[in-house]
Amino acid sequence: MIGRLVVVGLGLIGGSFAKGLRERGVCREVVGVDLDPQSRQLAVELGVVDRCEEHLAVACQGAEVIQLAVPILAMEKLLGELAKLDLGAAVLTDVGSAKGNVVRAARLAFGEMPARFVPGHPIAGSEQSGVEAANVELFRRHKVILTPLQQTDAQAVQLVDRLWCELGADVEHMQVEHHDHVLAATSHLPHLLAFGLVDSLAKRGENLEIFRYAAGGFRDFTRIAGSDPVMWHDIFLANREAVLRNLDVFRADLDALREAVDAGDGHQLLGVFTRARVAREHFSKILARRAYVDAMHSNDLIFLANPGGTLSGRIRVPGDKSISHRSIMLGSLAEGTTEVEGFLEGEDALATLQAFRDMGVVIEGPHHGRVTIHGVGLHGLQPPPGPIYLGNSGTSMRLLSGLLAAQSFDTTLTGDASLTKRPMNRVAKPLRAMGALIETAAEGRPPLTIRGGRRLGGMTYEMPMASAQVKSSLLLAGLYAAGTTTVIEPAPTRDHTERMLRGFGYPVAVEGKAATVESGHKLTATHIEVPADISSAAFFLVAASIAEGSELLLEHVGINPTRTGVIDILKLMGGDISLENQREVGGEPVADIRVRSAKLKGIDIPEDLVPLAIDEFPVLFVAAACAEGRTVLRGAEELRVKESDRIQVMADGLLALGVKAEPTPDGIIIEGSSIGGGEVHSHGDHRIAMAFSVASLRATAPIRIHDCANVATSFPNFLSLAAQVGIRVSEEAKS
Ligand code: S3P
Repeated sequence: MIGRLVVVGLGLIGGSFAKGLRERGVCREVVGVDLDPQSRQLAVELGVVDRCEEHLAVACQGAEVIQLAVPILAMEKLLGELAKLDLGAAVLTDVGSAKGNVVRAARLAFGEMPARFVPGHPIAGSEQSGVEAANVELFRRHKVILTPLQQTDAQAVQLVDRLWCELGADVEHMQVEHHDHVLAATSHLPHLLAFGLVDSLAKRGENLEIFRYAAGGFRDFTRIAGSDPVMWHDIFLANREAVLRNLDVFRADLDALREAVDAGDGHQLLGVFTRARVAREHFSKILARRAYVDAMHSNDLIFLANPGGTLSGRIRVPGDKSISHRSIMLGSLAEGTTEVEGFLEGEDALATLQAFRDMGVVIEGPHHGRVTIHGVGLHGLQPPPGPIYLGNSGTSMRLLSGLLAAQSFDTTLTGDASLTKRPMNRVAKPLRAMGALIETAAEGRPPLTIRGGRRLGGMTYEMPMASAQVKSSLLLAGLYAAGTTTVIEPAPTRDHTERMLRGFGYPVAVEGKAATVESGHKLTATHIEVPADISSAAFFLVAASIAEGSELLLEHVGINPTRTGVIDILKLMGGDISLENQREVGGEPVADIRVRSAKLKGIDIPEDLVPLAIDEFPVLFVAAACAEGRTVLRGAEELRVKESDRIQVMADGLLALGVKAEPTPDGIIIEGSSIGGGEVHSHGDHRIAMAFSVASLRATAPIRIHDCANVATSFPNFLSLAAQVGIRVSEEAKS
C-alpha cells in the first residue's frame, strides 16, 4: 500500500496505469494532472483517478510516487518544472519509449540524475488513445522495462517494479543504452520502414492504382503505418542515435540485397531468405513459449501422468541430440554441401543451427529431419550480428566456445536461466591455456564473451572430469591451434566428435584414453544420417521394463558403445532387452532394440558405466524405484551440474511419491518400493519431466509434473509417442 500516487499526463498509458492501481486499491489516493480540462474531468468521471489538479505543484504535494506519462518530447519541460518543486522523498518514474533522452533531460533539469528517479517503459499500447481508452488490463502479460542507473535507489526501483507487477506486467531491468538500441531495432526501425514504404508508394501519384493491387503482404507489412504520427515523430527525435545506427546497418544489408538482385545471385538471396525465415520461426517459437509462460507468471507447463498402462508397438524416437549438434557444426565448417537426415528438431539442436546461421552459414531446413548445410570452410564464419542465444543448451555453449576461441571475431554466448547457472570454467580454463581470451560472469558462469583474433597453440590436456563436451570443445579449438592438441579423458565418454571428424575426412588419432588432432587439414562435406537418440529411447526402455505385460520395439537407435550404459545397467538389473538388426550407418552403430517387461532388482551400479549412461540416470532412478531391493549409485557427482541438480531434484521427486531415496554427494541410494501419486517438480529439466512421466506406469495415483516446457529441447514429440505406446501422460488442460 502506498500513499499518494500522482500521474502526470492522462492519456492511454497514464490513464491505464492510474486506473489499474486505483482499482487494485494499491494507493490511498490517485491524483491526475493534465493540461487538458476535458481529460481531467473525464478521468474523474471514469474513475481513473480520485481527483485531478491543473497545477503540478499542488498535485505533487505529499506524493509518494509520481508517474510521468506525457509525450516524450514534453518530458524535458515537465522535468524542468518538477526540479523547481520540493518533492520530498517522492519516487519519480516515467513511461517514455526512449530512455537516453529522458535521462539526459533529467540531468539537465536536476543537475544530476535524481537517485529516486526510475526510468521505465511499458511495451504496450493500442490504436486507441486518450483517457477514455484507459484499460486496467493494458499491461497484463506485457513487458515493462525499467532502466535504473547505477546511482538509482534500490528501494525506489523495487517500489516501481512492484507497482507494475500489480498490473500484471512482466518487469525486466536493462541498461539505458541497451534499451534504446533494442527498441530502435525491433520497434522504431520497423515503424520507420512502414511509414516510409507507404509514403513512397502513395506520393507517386499513381497510388490509387498501386493500392488497388495491394494484398495481404502489403497490409501486414504496413499495419503499423496506421500509428499516431505525432507520437512517432517524437520517438524518432528522442531516440535519434540508436535509430540511425540501426538504420545504417539495415541500409547496408538492403544494399547487399539490391546487389544480389542486380547480379542475379540466387545463392545469396536464398541464404538471406532462408536465414530470415528460420530465424523468425525459431524466435517466434521461443518467444511464443516465453510469452505464454510469462503470462502464466511461472514456468509451469504441467504434465499429468495417470497411473498404470502397458506398452506395445514400435516407434522411432527423434534424432540423437549430440550428433545433431555436431552435424551442424562440422557441416558448417566443411567445404561443400552436407546433407543431414534424421536431425533432431528440438530446441537445443535448433539453437546450434541458429547460431551458425547468425554466423553467415546458409542452412536449409530442417524439414522432416532433413537439413542442407552450405559449408563455408574452416575460416569462413562471419561475425554474428549480436550475442548468440543458446537457450537451454549446454552442449552448444561448450562446443561453440572451443570453436569460437579460434575465430577472428568476438562473440558473446548467452542462454536461459538454467544454462546461466552452469559451470563454464571447465572449458574456459583449458581454452585459456591454449591462448584463448574468454570472459565469464562470476564463478565461470555464462554469458561468455570470447575474443577473436587469438593465435591458439595446441596442448595436451588431462581432463579432471569425464566430459565429452569438454573433450569436443578442445578438439574443435585444436582444428585451429598450432601443432597438435591431445585430450586425455579419465574414463571413456561419447566419441561422436572424433567419429564425425573422420567422417568429414579430418584425421583424428585415438590411442587409449587420448584423442589427438592437429591443425592444417580440412573438412569435406558429407552425408550424415542421425540415428535415433538412445537418451530419448531410454525413457521407453525403462517404461516397457517396469510396465507389466509390455513389449516394445525401438527402431534405428544409436548404440555407440560410449552411450549404451543404460542398456548394460538395465540388463544388470534383470531387464529383458535385445538388439536386433545391428548395422553401421555413417560411422555410428545402430540397432532396433526390443524390450519386454521384467522383474528388476536393485544393484550397485558399476562406476565405469556412469559416463556411458550419464544422461539416463533420471529414468534409471525410476527403474530403481520399481526394482526389488536397493540400488546404489556412486561416482556420479557430474549429475549435480546438468540442466538441474539431477541427484537432488530426482530425490525430492521420488520422496514426494513415497519412494525412499537418499541423495549422497556423488550419487543416490534408492530402495525399491511402491510409487504413490503426487506433485513433483522438474525444475525445467527435460529429462526429469520425462522420467516422472514414466514413473506413472507403476504409480498408484496420478502424478502432476511441474515445469515441463523444456521437454521440447530434446524430445519435442514425447507426449504423442508416449500416448501412442500406452503411457497415459498428457499436458494438463489450463483452467
Ligand atoms: C554431451 C555430453 C554430456 C551429456 C550432454 C551431451 C555431448 O555432457 O550430458 O547431454 O553432446 O557432448 P558432459 O560432457 O558434460 O558430460
